[in-house]
Amino acid sequence: MNILVIGSGGREHAIVWKLAQSPSKSKLFCAPGNVGIASLAQCVAVDATNLEGLLNFAKENKIDLTIVGPEAPLAAGIVDLFKKNHLRIFGPTKEASRLEASKIYTKEFCSRHKIPQADYKIFEEPSQAKIYAKKCNYPLVVKADGLAQGKGVVICENSEEASKAIDKILVEGCFGEAGKRIVIENFLKGVETSFIAVVDGNHILPLASAKDHKRLLDNDKGPNTGGMGAYSPSPLVNATLYEKVMEKIMLPTVRGMVTEGFPFVGFLYAGLMIDRGEPYLLEFNVRLGDPEAQAILPRLQTDLVDVIEAALAGRLNEVTLSWDNRPSVCIVMASQGYPEKYETGFPIMGLEEATKLPDVTIVHSGTKMKEGQVVTAGGRVLGVTALGKDLPTALKCAYEAASKISWEGCFYRKDIGKDTL
Ligand code: AMP
Ligand code: GLY
Repeated sequence: MNILVIGSGGREHAIVWKLAQSPSKSKLFCAPGNVGIASLAQCVAVDATNLEGLLNFAKENKIDLTIVGPEAPLAAGIVDLFKKNHLRIFGPTKEASRLEASKIYTKEFCSRHKIPQADYKIFEEPSQAKIYAKKCNYPLVVKADGLAQGKGVVICENSEEASKAIDKILVEGCFGEAGKRIVIENFLKGVETSFIAVVDGNHILPLASAKDHKRLLDNDKGPNTGGMGAYSPSPLVNATLYEKVMEKIMLPTVRGMVTEGFPFVGFLYAGLMIDRGEPYLLEFNVRLGDPEAQAILPRLQTDLVDVIEAALAGRLNEVTLSWDNRPSVCIVMASQGYPEKYETGFPIMGLEEATKLPDVTIVHSGTKMKEGQVVTAGGRVLGVTALGKDLPTALKCAYEAASKISWEGCFYRKDIGKDTL
């Protein structure tokens, strides 16, 4: 079987790494892929958002199955395009991808289906948004409607900050079309966790739980990022909470998408706030999380190809996943300056030595090859994942591997997993 994975980050490297272990012995392609992926799959120089280019490649190379990593091609309708051309592809349609691509769509969807979330109001007019924000309690959350690469959410401590955020999005238009409208919502207190499932339209097959570390710096300080580390499982998601998340969030969502005519097929990721044992939806993503995928997939023992085949056939109810009981930890190594401006092109030392450590997997997120040397090419550069008999062992192992790797301006959080120890 020929399988094409779309994307170029750590998540896609983790997906390709898992597929490479499949007994199906598939031939793997990745568009555009990265330096790390190139050792496992044939990388194809077609950008993840070049839908026509991807379609042509899939047709010409007899791709039997395409798996989409990031949200942008999904929101642009890659699944619809491939299906129209009778190609098998795993991911939600353009309409179903609105669960991530439009916060307003999702807020209204959740209201219709009584899914617990923060109270909200929608604005297009900056003056009206500011009048409303003046009357609110703080903190207050201002969000751009559309995709903004994780930068469209501002937590405001007072009405001056809210006014600035409103101006930035609605007046200066820093997110373009994605910021034509905003959501202003109440600040939810509690502890965050992710809940990710494979969905086939009707059935929900949750993956092992995982927790992301979104803030840049230790002790959850600094700005939000794409994610600085993750561990799996998340002890927070015990049997009681699991049932509540399924009953109050996942089931009503999947059923609601069916009744509204947009059945959801793909990875469905709920970003949750847990307050006194009750889950509230912060956001949906219509894909695997990054770096959650790096922590979850090394623990998955079931063949990922089988899982995706079952999802495409609508028979996920027949699948039981088996997991490595050992916990995993992923540490994201980043460039100085991320998530704002950073320099790239620095040679990365120690990769080979770190890769040799047992139970360690290193995925590439932002690297490239320059004159035979792997150099930095992004904000998040590498993800170092380790499995261990318990979390402290996994942490020790992951940090030991990370300590062997270096480049000018390399940094990573030193407190991944500490919140649960
Ligand atoms: P989102 O992209 O909507 O998940 O927002 C990004 C991050 O902002 C979340 O992971 C939370 O840390 C924070 N956040 C978003 N909405 C809220 C809210 N209503 N209350 C508290 N924190 C929030
Ligand atoms: N780790 C958060 C995300 O993938 O959006």
